[in-house]
Amino acid sequence: MGNCVARDIPDPQTGLTSNHIKAVRANWKLIEKRLPEYGLELFVAYLNKHPDWIGLLPFLKPADMPRLQQTPRLKAHGTIVLKKLGELLTMLDSPPKLIGELLKQGSTHRARGLAPENFQAIQHDLNELFVKICGPEFDIEGWDAVLTLIMTGIEEGLRQARDKDAKYL
Ligand code: HEM
Repeated sequence: MGNCVARDIPDPQTGLTSNHIKAVRANWKLIEKRLPEYGLELFVAYLNKHPDWIGLLPFLKPADMPRLQQTPRLKAHGTIVLKKLGELLTMLDSPPKLIGELLKQGSTHRARGLAPENFQAIQHDLNELFVKICGPEFDIEGWDAVLTLIMTGIEEGLRQARDKDAKYL
């Protein structure tokens, strides 16, 4: 037999390989250095692309649009979202725990009026932000797999919460 190279087999529940997990966690070391600044940058970009979604954030009003960059509540909110993302990255090798947390996030965000398209859009903006932060270190394949998994889980949580609501109408 020649060299025996261990294959990096995707997890059957998440589709992630150990290389995906290793790569995004290495990138996260760069991202976590400045969570408040990056969290603000994320939501400023998000709202500038989708100004009509400002109503999804109850602490903002349309008149705040021109001064988002100077809005401490938006910075605080962006920090919370990125912190949660960092927590989710620690669960990538515990699929049942991860999936439970994603469904929970879907359910709490359904109560806040969020829909799947709001998460698809934030996936795009997270990806753009992380490319900018990590530069050549950015692992395209790993982040695509991880962010798609996270958004799919949250969207499933939104759907389950909607179906549960429909039962009691
Ligand atoms: C993957 C993306 C996101 C993650 C991981 C996330 C996570 C969180 C977490 C951890 C909290 C606070 C704890 C809680 O009550 O659940 C929260 C609150 C909240 N999130 Fe998200 N979120 C995400 C995306 C969004 C988006 C795109 C919006 C709206 C545009 C949004 C709107 C809210 C609102 C309105 C709150 C309550 C804030 C408050 O009452 O001050 N979230 N989110």
